Amino acid sequence: MSTRAGSRSPAEPGHLPVMLEEVLTALKPASGETIIDGTFGGGGYTSAILKAAECRVLGIDRDLDAIMRAEKMAEANPRLVPLLGCFGDLDTLAEQAGYESVDGVVLDIGVSSFQIDQADRGFSFQKDGPLDMRMGGSGPSAADVVNRMSEKGLADVIFRLGEEKNSRRIARTLVARRAEAPFETTADLAAVVEEAVGGRRGARVHPATLTFQAIRMYVNDELGELARGLRAAERILKPGGRLVVVTFHSLEDRLVKQWLRQRAGAIPAGSRHMPLMSKGPKPAFELQENKAVQPSDKEVETNPRARSAKLRAAIRTNADAAQDEASDGMNLPPLTELERSR
Ligand SMILES: C[S@@+](CC[C@H](N)C(=O)[O-])C[C@H]1O[C@@H](n2cnc3c(N)ncnc32)[C@H](O)[C@@H]1O
Repeated sequence: MSTRAGSRSPAEPGHLPVMLEEVLTALKPASGETIIDGTFGGGGYTSAILKAAECRVLGIDRDLDAIMRAEKMAEANPRLVPLLGCFGDLDTLAEQAGYESVDGVVLDIGVSSFQIDQADRGFSFQKDGPLDMRMGGSGPSAADVVNRMSEKGLADVIFRLGEEKNSRRIARTLVARRAEAPFETTADLAAVVEEAVGGRRGARVHPATLTFQAIRMYVNDELGELARGLRAAERILKPGGRLVVVTFHSLEDRLVKQWLRQRAGAIPAGSRHMPLMSKGPKPAFELQENKAVQPSDKEVETNPRARSAKLRAAIRTNADAAQDEASDGMNLPPLTELERSR
């Protein structure tokens, strides 16, 4: 998860893009190129890319507020093309806008400080608001999940996406409480989770932090989007095109790392039981670095929220794109099973 409140960006006061220099170094935008910024947010990356070279940027975001910021920026700079939608569909979105292939794709995973800071978006337990958490504004909300999902489903979401060890107890408490009155606000949910785990007990972070993170990731299908976005990038990048992904969470980084290593041929395709059949398809990517790039101490000092950031980058080869199905490996019930209650 990435939050950037209290920072500065060239695009928007109060929003500092994380690892911007490292992103530009890995993305290498050049004049005449087309780059996809799949997570426009406050436009910090986009604005720096547009400044770095006379290139075009397709700025994608699923949040209408972000796209409205992009449209404002595009009025001053027509090399920016704002596109409302999910980066899991970035190849289709680009093709519909008339771009068959691109030279770079950058993804900066998570929520923005704009989203966190706006109480009525319902992402924060520090600011009371309706229990929503949808980045895109459609589909089931956090309230739908908390009020309608089975106890087992809730426990699995909180355990797998939040890595919360008290997941079963929290799910049991939520189900008992909602039988009396449905959850409607973030403060209400935070208070009940706090009670379920026996209060704060001197903890530095709020006891509902992991539960909120898990529900937000589930509501927005964040890992599923990431898995689809990587494959979409593979399909639309030209040979020599650069893929750059910044994550803030170990589950996201693991997904990116394993997928890239596999697509770069660094993980043997065969198993130890089939050594002779281990020659896999031609690698679709070359890794720019074997290890993730992390922010400098100086950046973490000025923006403590950058501390968990990890950047991974790779260069597209001329091998065919894989046709495999995207999976986040979490094995959770699909969001579509939750009937909308509003
Ligand atoms: C961390 S912010 C990006 C900040 C941006 N790099 C900047 O410098 O201002 C993440 C943005 O990605 C958007 N987002 C998250 N998941 C998305 C998805 N699957 N498809 C499209 N946009 C998404 C969020 O709405 C949010 O605006």
